[in-house]
Amino acid sequence: MTTTRKVDRRSDAAARSSTDADLSLDFLRVVEQAAVACAQTMGQGDRHKSDKVAVEAMRHELDSVPIDGTIVIGEGERDEAPMLYIGEKVGMAHKSPNGRAYPQIDIAVDPLEGTNLCALGTPNAIAVLAASERGGLLHAPDLYMEKLVVGPSSKDVVDLDAPIRFNLRAIAQALGRRVEDLVIIVLDRPRHEKLIAEIRETGARIQLIGDGDLSAGIAAAVVGSGVHAVMGIGGAPEGVLTAAAMRCLNGEIFARLVINKPEDEERCRTMGITDPKRIYRSKDLASGEKIIFAATGVTDGALMKGVRFFGEGTRTTSLVMQTHPHQIRFIDSIQINPSKDVKIRF
Ligand code: FBP
Repeated sequence: MTTTRKVDRRSDAAARSSTDADLSLDFLRVVEQAAVACAQTMGQGDRHKSDKVAVEAMRHELDSVPIDGTIVIGEGERDEAPMLYIGEKVGMAHKSPNGRAYPQIDIAVDPLEGTNLCALGTPNAIAVLAASERGGLLHAPDLYMEKLVVGPSSKDVVDLDAPIRFNLRAIAQALGRRVEDLVIIVLDRPRHEKLIAEIRETGARIQLIGDGDLSAGIAAAVVGSGVHAVMGIGGAPEGVLTAAAMRCLNGEIFARLVINKPEDEERCRTMGITDPKRIYRSKDLASGEKIIFAATGVTDGALMKGVRFFGEGTRTTSLVMQTHPHQIRFIDSIQINPSKDVKIRF
C-alpha cells in the first residue's frame, strides 16, 4: 500500500514537471516566432506594422500549444484588438478541441515590447509572454504604474514611498558600493523631470531609455548586467510581466497604479481591483504558484541578442524561466531553412 502511494506520488511529480518543462519550451517557440516576425521589420520606421506581425505570429503559434489558455494581459479590449485581446481563448483546447482536458492557463503577452525600438532598430526590443495557472496573474488595466524594480540583494531595503536618496543609499549599501557607482534606468519622459533631478543630486548614474522598462527591469535583477534599479512610471501591463520575471529571478517590483481620473478608478473596479492605491509587490501582481516567463530578443539588448538572419536560417537568443521547477535558461536557437546545406558557426 505504502509502496503504491510512493510510486503514485513520484509519477505525479514526474508528470507535473514534464508538463511544466514541455509548456516552457512551447512558450519559447511562441516568443521566438513573434521576435523573428517583427525583427524582419526592424528599422523600417513603421511601429504599427512591427507590432502587427509580432501579434499575428504569436497568435498563430499559441494555437498549437497544448493548453486551455486565456489572455489576461494582451493587446487591449476586444473592440480595439482583433487578436490577443483580453479574455481571448487560445491554445489547442480552442483551436483543435478533441475532448482532451488541457491545463487551464492564464497568459500575459507583449508580442513586441518596445515597438519604437524595433521600428528604429535601437536596442532592447523583446517579444514576451508570461503564464501561470488560472488566476495567477493580475488583470491589470492599461493604465500607468509607478515602479521601483530592484534585484535580490536590494529587495528588502527599499520602499516605494521613501525619498529617492534614501532608496539609493540603501541599494548602494546592499550592493557594497557607493551611490555614485549605481546605474539607475529611467524612461526618458517629461513626467520624470523631478525624479531625474533627484537621482542626479545623489550622484548616482542614470541611463535614460526611450522605451522598454520591462527589459530594463529584468536587467536590474540579474547580477553583472550593470543595472541596479529601474525607477519611474511606465505601463501597468509591463509591470505585471516584470513581476512574473521577478518571481523567477528573486528580484522585486514595487508598484502602484497611477489614477488620474474618476474613469481610471471605475476601470480598476470593473477589473476587480478594489484598492487602486495599493502598493503591489511581485507576488501580488504575479501570484501564481507556477509562473513561466519567456522572452526573445528582437533587437540587441543587455541580456539577449537580437534576431540574426543569416541566409540559411535564423538565430535567436531567449530567456526562459520558471518557478516550478525553478529554472533560468538562456537559450540560443538556430532555425534552419529547409533544404539548405547549412554551416553553423559557434
Ligand atoms: P510599447 O511596446 O507599447 O511601445 O511600450 C513600450 C513602453 O516604453 C514600455 O516599456 C513602458 O512601460 C511604456 O511604453 C511607457 O509608456 P509611454 O510610452 O506612454 O510613456
